[in-house]
Amino acid sequence: AHFEPKNLPLKGKKVVVTAGPTRERIDPVRYISNFSSGKMGYSMAEAAASLGAETILISGPVSLDKPAGVKVVNVESAADMFEAVRAEYEDATIVIKSAAVADYRPAEIHTQKIKKSDDDSVIELARTTDILQTLGEWKEDQILVGFAAETENVIENGKGKLQRKNLDFIIVNDVTDPGGGFGSDTNVVTLISENGTYHPYSSMPKKELATVLLQAIVQEEGLDTN
Ligand code: CTP
Ligand code: CA
Repeated sequence: AHFEPKNLPLKGKKVVVTAGPTRERIDPVRYISNFSSGKMGYSMAEAAASLGAETILISGPVSLDKPAGVKVVNVESAADMFEAVRAEYEDATIVIKSAAVADYRPAEIHTQKIKKSDDDSVIELARTTDILQTLGEWKEDQILVGFAAETENVIENGKGKLQRKNLDFIIVNDVTDPGGGFGSDTNVVTLISENGTYHPYSSMPKKELATVLLQAIVQEEGLDTN
């Protein structure tokens, strides 16, 4: 049977998107972070809202304007982001983890600014919680979408993360591709589903790509037909 997609397939549904980097404090004036601009995540949130979803955007520190029709929750560290996502998880239809979460944080946060010295040049690190992996362990009916930023073996590494984190979809991204990546307004990705389908997309603006990706997810999940 052929179904006409409805205009607003995500109306009445909640979509949670994370975006941007996290910042892991070292002392009152320093932190560990990464080059994520947040553009892909903000575009995903904008696309979700334009498909009718109640959209919650949990954002690390970025310099982007709030997308129209989206509720923004600002966070700083991986631990903050985990708390914010957890609070929105249970009744979410789709969770999209675009954020570039720091994998490590300083083992302790110094309360005073660290002074330079010759014998104290090592910062001890501890692993952050893998938010997406934890969501995968807790998954009930939620559709879980991850991102994977890779520099080599892009598809294999992405598929490994899809399986390891119990995801429904992963959007893999070769960050060395000149057609996209960190900071760029364009991106080149492949959408891989847990059912084994592959959708490779050529370089396009992140805003346009976000809509295409979300529509593909909506279609594969049959959200446009019920
Ligand atoms: N992620 C997360 N929490 C973390 C680390 C990653 O939720 N502490 C999520 C990211 O938001 C992304 C996905 O996991 O959706 C993949 O992130 P990525 O950095 O590519 O993978 P890692 O599992 O961290 O593995 P590695 O960095 O070693 O490649
Ligand atoms: Ca990582």
